[in-house]
Amino acid sequence: MNSPYQFTPPARLLDFMRQAGNPHLINLAAGLPSVECVPKAALQRAFDAAFCEEPDVALGYHTPDGDYSLREKIAQRLARRGISVTPEEMVITTGCTQALHGMIRLWAQPAEVVACEAPAYYATLEMLGDSGIRVLPIPVRDPDGVDLELVSTLFERFRPKFFVVCPTLSNPSGATMPNEARRALVEICRKTDTHLLEDDIYGELSELDGLRPVRSFDDGSIVSYVTSFSKTVAPGIRVGVCVPGGNTERFAQLKCQQDMHSATLCEVAFRKYLQAGGFDSHLQYLKGLNRQRREMAREIIEQHFPEATNVWIPAGGFLLWVEVPPSIDIEAAYQAALSKNVAFSRGKAFFTTPDAKVSSMRINCSRPTANQLVQGLETVGKILRQRG
Ligand SMILES: Cc1ncc(COP(=O)(O)O)c(C=O)c1O
Repeated sequence: MNSPYQFTPPARLLDFMRQAGNPHLINLAAGLPSVECVPKAALQRAFDAAFCEEPDVALGYHTPDGDYSLREKIAQRLARRGISVTPEEMVITTGCTQALHGMIRLWAQPAEVVACEAPAYYATLEMLGDSGIRVLPIPVRDPDGVDLELVSTLFERFRPKFFVVCPTLSNPSGATMPNEARRALVEICRKTDTHLLEDDIYGELSELDGLRPVRSFDDGSIVSYVTSFSKTVAPGIRVGVCVPGGNTERFAQLKCQQDMHSATLCEVAFRKYLQAGGFDSHLQYLKGLNRQRREMAREIIEQHFPEATNVWIPAGGFLLWVEVPPSIDIEAAYQAALSKNVAFSRGKAFFTTPDAKVSSMRINCSRPTANQLVQGLETVGKILRQRG
């Protein structure tokens, strides 16, 4: 059975972000949506309106909790998905990253046990590793997420302080927990006195009907909720949200120490973008585009990757988790691909066990152009077959 242990973060976000800026690379590695996906014209109108109609607000200091009317708008969106929160219970953050960082800083004390998914988003792992906690990895069993019987057994035994989970289109596995599992997870956490940190950054990209955030099965006493609009509108706007549960004041204080408040201009412009009313149709457009790209990638992988390659089929989003035969040395394949200017994410970056042999990779099918996606995957496929 898994036991908690201290670990060194497997990867540094800094390195990935620098690689993402390399224009010469066919980048199947980065976790960002394509520039095609950004509603540029609507955002330009929103920024113009922020500048022309509210220059004093948009260019000034404001409250660390964020623009009040923006929080109202976001609260209305969350209400549609079953989360009942007031603007006062919410803090606007600089991306989901600051929300995760603040909550982990607030909750994690050195040597305490904290559970996370395995695999999990490497920046979350980096924050956990740097905080000195002992990690309790919970294997993501299949595209429905973690095995709840195992969660229950491990939580009873090790009583983690909290569990960081990305229940919808988890990065990198793409796993999405069904509603019944979400409800059951909250019950397990309640029974074992474990908090839940729900990272819902891909929530609105889900193509399943009626899926509800885990927070909607709780009143905020168990689940704290973080998200952002980086994957649905534009990562550069850096508008994120934290609903910290009972810790709003302390969270706002930590955020204020870091950056006083997030960029006012972005917040006001983003509010105007939401007020203009095109976000829902933009989400529909994105879902169609993502579906098309995932399908395209899956077909190329089927044709060009070694036999016995397994692609996890996610219920939305633009990331594919691909398992290749264990005989293939992924590190060597990665270096060979890089020498041909193609990058993919090596699976081991998403685990807290650096020595474990991980024969998986994460492929971004949205960031590259369609031609780059074909070329990049064919190149990787050829390299893998030579080594299979
Ligand atoms: C699961 C997950 N959480 C958080 C983030 C960071 O989001 P943001 O750009 O809003 O800081 C990402 C970005 O890739 C992510 O995949």
